[in-house]
Parts: sequence; C-alpha cells; structure tokens
Amino acid sequence: MRRLSLATRLTVTFTVITAACFILVGWLLYRAAEQRILEQDETNIVLSARHLRRLVAELDSMEDLKTHQDRMVVSVLGDDNNALRMVDDAGHVIVDHNPTNLPLAPQGVVPTGQRIVASMLNTWHGDHDLPIRGVAVVGQMRDGAHVTIMVARSFADRAVLLRRYRRDMALRLLAGMIAAMVLSYLLVRRALRPLRSMAADAATIHAQNLHTRLSAGNAPTELHALAHALNEMLDRLEGGFARVWQFTVDLAHDLRTPVGNLRGTNEVALTRLRTSAEYQALLGSNIEECDRVSRTIESVLFLARADNPQFALQRSTLDVREELQRIADYFEGIALDARVGIEIQGSATISADRELFRRAVGNLLSNALRYTPPEQIIILLASRTDEAVTVAVENPGAGISAEHLDKLFDRFYRVDRSRSDSANSTGLGLSIVKSIIELHGGRVTVDSQPQGITRFVLWFPVH
Ligand SMILES: Nc1ncnc2c1ncn2[C@@H]1O[C@H](COP(=O)(O)OP(=O)(O)OP(=O)(O)O)[C@@H](O)[C@H]1O
Ligand SMILES: [Mg+2]
Repeated sequence: MRRLSLATRLTVTFTVITAACFILVGWLLYRAAEQRILEQDETNIVLSARHLRRLVAELDSMEDLKTHQDRMVVSVLGDDNNALRMVDDAGHVIVDHNPTNLPLAPQGVVPTGQRIVASMLNTWHGDHDLPIRGVAVVGQMRDGAHVTIMVARSFADRAVLLRRYRRDMALRLLAGMIAAMVLSYLLVRRALRPLRSMAADAATIHAQNLHTRLSAGNAPTELHALAHALNEMLDRLEGGFARVWQFTVDLAHDLRTPVGNLRGTNEVALTRLRTSAEYQALLGSNIEECDRVSRTIESVLFLARADNPQFALQRSTLDVREELQRIADYFEGIALDARVGIEIQGSATISADRELFRRAVGNLLSNALRYTPPEQIIILLASRTDEAVTVAVENPGAGISAEHLDKLFDRFYRVDRSRSDSANSTGLGLSIVKSIIELHGGRVTVDSQPQGITRFVLWFPVH
C-alpha cells in the first residue's frame, strides 16, 4: 500500500473534522429554524381560531353570520395557504375561504368553553402528501346557535422553503469543506516546511562532513527538540568515527614498527654472509617481532568482537579465590624471574565468563609484574560489597601520575612510549580489560600513589 504523506493525512483529518462540525452545526440550525417556523404558524392558527370564536360570540344568529362573512374571512386573508370553513350543526357550510382547496376535516373539535392551545392542533395530509395543520372549534352565537369553525394551514410553502434552505446549506457546506481542505493543506505544508528543510540538510551529511549540525531556525519547539536529538546523535557518531579513525592510525603505526624492524634486521643480515649462530639470533628476533604482530592482531580482533552487541558471555559461577590462585600459578615463572611475590587475599564468588575473567585479571597482573620493583609483593584481593564483587590488583612501584589515569584504558595508550615500545607491549591490555568488565555490566577503576601503590579494581555488579 502506498504510504500517505503527513500533509495529506493531516489535510484529510482536518477536512473530516471540519465537515463533521459543519454538518452538526448546520443540522442543529436547520432544526431550530424549522421549529421556529412551525411554532409561528401554529401560533397564527391558534390566534385566528380564538379571534374567530370571539367574533362569532358577538354575532346574534346564523343570519348575522352570513351577513358578516367577509369580516370572518379577513382574519385568515393575506396568505393563500390559509383556509377557513364554518359549518352549522346541520352541516351547511356558512363561510368558506379555501384558495388552495385544502381537504378540511372537523376532527377533535374543541368545545365552546375550552381555551384553544397549540397542542390541540391536528395534522393531516393533502394532495402529494403535503402536511396540513389545523383546528376545529365550536363557536356559540348570542341566540345559542352553534357553528363549527375550521381553521387550517397548508405547509406546502414551508416544505418548499425548508427544502431550499437545506439545498443552500448543503452548497455552502460543500464550499466550506473545500475551503477548509485547501486552507488546511496550505497550512500543513507551511508548518512542515522546516521539517523538509531539516531533512534536506540531513541528506547532505556524510562521513566526510559529520561536523555539520542541523538547525531548526525559527521552527516550532517540537522541531527544535528533534534537531537537538539529531545533533546529539551526530555528536556521538562523530566521536565514534574519530575513535575508529584514531584506532586505525594507531594500529597502522603499531604494526609498522615491528614490520620495519623485521625488514631492517633482515636487510642488514643479508649484506654479507653470516655465521649460523648469527642466523639463529636473527631468526629468534624475527619470531619475537612476529609474536608482537600476532599479539596485536589478536588483541584488535578480540576488541572488535567484544564491541559487537551480539557477543555472548559463557557465564558460570566462579570461586574468585581459586581463579586468582590459578592465574598466579600461570604467572609464577615471570614472577620468579622478576623476583616479585604474588599474594592472594579474600574470597568471593561471581557469575562471569571464566576465560574472559582470567584474561582481564591476567592483563592486570602482567602489567603489575612489569612495574613492580624486585623483592616486592603484588596483592590480588577479592572482596564483596552490597552492590558488587571487586577484584583488586595492587602493586608497589613508581606509580602513574594523575594526568595519565583517565587515558590508561584508551586503545594503544602507554604512559612511557619509549619504554613500553618493547616487544612486550601493545598498549591494548587495559582496553581489553575495560571491554571485558563492560561486557559483564561492570566497570574498572584505577588509583595510584607516586612511589606507592597502584591499584586496579574490577567491579562485577551483583544482580
Ligand atoms: N601497574 C602499573 N603500574 C604502572 N603503570 C602501569 C601499570 N599498569 C599499566 N600501566 C601503564 O598503562 C599503560 C597501558 O597498559 P596496557 O596494559 O594497556 O598496555 P601495555 O601493558 O603497554 O601493553 P600490553 O598489555 O599489550 O602488553 C602501560 O603502558 C603502562 O604505562
Ligand atoms: Mg598490559
């Protein structure tokens, strides 16, 4: 099905609402006018009947009535739709004024003493089913003789008048609806103009000009909110793009160094014939560089996978103390070489991905081992608060100065590049720790004293 534009939808809605209001108000006005006209005509019939009964009462006899016929007729003259007939008790017509030949019927005759009111009026139908309203009343003359007075009015002219009124109203209604439709369409189009211009602006934004921001100008406040939300989205996208770009540059830079080293040492070695011991040393250093490249590639791949929202954790319940012990055992050889002790304190259980937990704590411990002076002790501490299980890795050493602390977890960030550019450092260890803890819904914090304790803490939330 073809989608309708907002302008069309709003125009149709406005038009339907306007038409419904027009029809309702028109119908109410029509009913009121019809009521007023009918009431007026009924009042005229009642007044004529009352007047005629009074005139009759002033007459002496039937003869007198015949003489004053014209006086009687005068009370209904002036409108050809009126009819008057007076009949004596024997059924003889004494007065008859009926220009349009209405069928007159003496039904529900009102006796002499009774006051004539509108509710006594009868309705019947003449030719072509046209409604007639009238009343029959008994008048009494001075000599006691009775005469039945029938006053009636045909509503043929009223029917014509009301029909014309209806037709005029329908035409005006149609004109009003068309006007409402055109006006609402123009109005809606005008109101949506800022939206169209915003859409046109948005269509020009590409990866190359992500700094462009949408302006709502003097558009209504609702559109300001939309522009604001879209601009905030652009801020986030721009930040994301900048990070990806920086990551790419850093990655290229970090791969260039070992590849350059490889090429350089191999070229130098090829300048002349070497002893087999020299070739062996060269191959050993080549393997080291290859290790560094593959470690960087593996770390980048891991970070890319961890960024994917579909990344699935293999959670299980871990005895933290046991896990810390296992990690410490794994690093035992390096710790012995560095003459550094590892001590495990506290205990807790958490629900976490075992491999990722080992990797995160392993990265922290490998850093600690690198920066702890000989004969000192690294502490791995597990503890539990109401909201989280924490795993802290604490080591004494030179410490990290405050200005580096908030950048430590950025990809490829190293405090001392010259020192860490060794084959052992990729600068990705802490960003992997951060990714892992965030996958678990937690966070990682660091604090460090100059020439004191550096402490990294993993916070695993307790659900
Ligand atoms: N315990 C620590 N004491 C002092 N400095 C630290 C410590 N842990 C990390 N750092 C600093 O933070 C930087 C970033 O650490 P990160 O683990 O991300 O990278 P890396 O250790 O250099 O490389 P990789 O972990 O890939 O071997 C390190 O280069 C180091 O300067
Ligand atoms: Mg590291």
